[in-house]
Amino acid sequence: MRILSTFSVLMFMLVLLSQCTNPAPTPTQAAAKELTPEEEQVYLDKGKAITAAAFAAMSGKLSAAMETGGVAGAVEYCNLAAYPLLDSLSKANNATIRRTSAKLRNPKNAAQGWEVEALAAFEQAKTLVREPKPRVRQLDDGSVVFVAPIKLQPLCTKCHGTVGTDIAAADYEVIKKLYPDDAATGYVPDELRGMWAIQFNR
Ligand code: HEC
Repeated sequence: MRILSTFSVLMFMLVLLSQCTNPAPTPTQAAAKELTPEEEQVYLDKGKAITAAAFAAMSGKLSAAMETGGVAGAVEYCNLAAYPLLDSLSKANNATIRRTSAKLRNPKNAAQGWEVEALAAFEQAKTLVREPKPRVRQLDDGSVVFVAPIKLQPLCTKCHGTVGTDIAAADYEVIKKLYPDDAATGYVPDELRGMWAIQFNR
């Protein structure tokens, strides 16, 4: 009798557990639908404002730091983590703001999840000489993602151009020491360097 009741309690817990691991779609997931053109525009504007603010902060700081400390003194400023502004933009928008690329300097910036396909599309547009444009779409979980191309500017060649000509050999040693697997060189101005990837959680 006692064994039987222990058994039924166990069965009951198993049923509960299986429900935990196989949840029915929540109403929000089931209701995830296409964005209206108005919503799409709102997120496109938000994404553009965030990336413009980030770009302004970064390029200002990068050129100032290079003027005073050269490449070696500026190397830490091409990193979103060096900018408290990015942190407050993420919080204010309930968003994750990342940069990724097909040729990485920091492996932590590797494309992940939904970013993989978006980056591949940008890279493909590049080879077809089609201008990649900022885009917005909704994921199955209801969050909205924004992507935008990152183009190389003349300023960037000091650290992402050709080693030996654009990048002084001594400067590249500094970069290599910090990023032994660096692949982010050989770029020319106007080339697609990478992609902004913003995920707005709703
Ligand atoms: C002073 C050197 C320096 C300059 C100038 C520089 N970068 Fe970087 N860049 C770096 C370093 C170092 C990293 C790795 C940052 C990190 O650890 O996340 C990086 C990373 C990146 C990444 C992230 C992907 C990856 O490869 O890890 C992008 C995108 C990028 N740079 C674009 C640019 C653009 C565009 C410019 C010009 C506006 C620029 N960089 C100028 C040094 C530089």
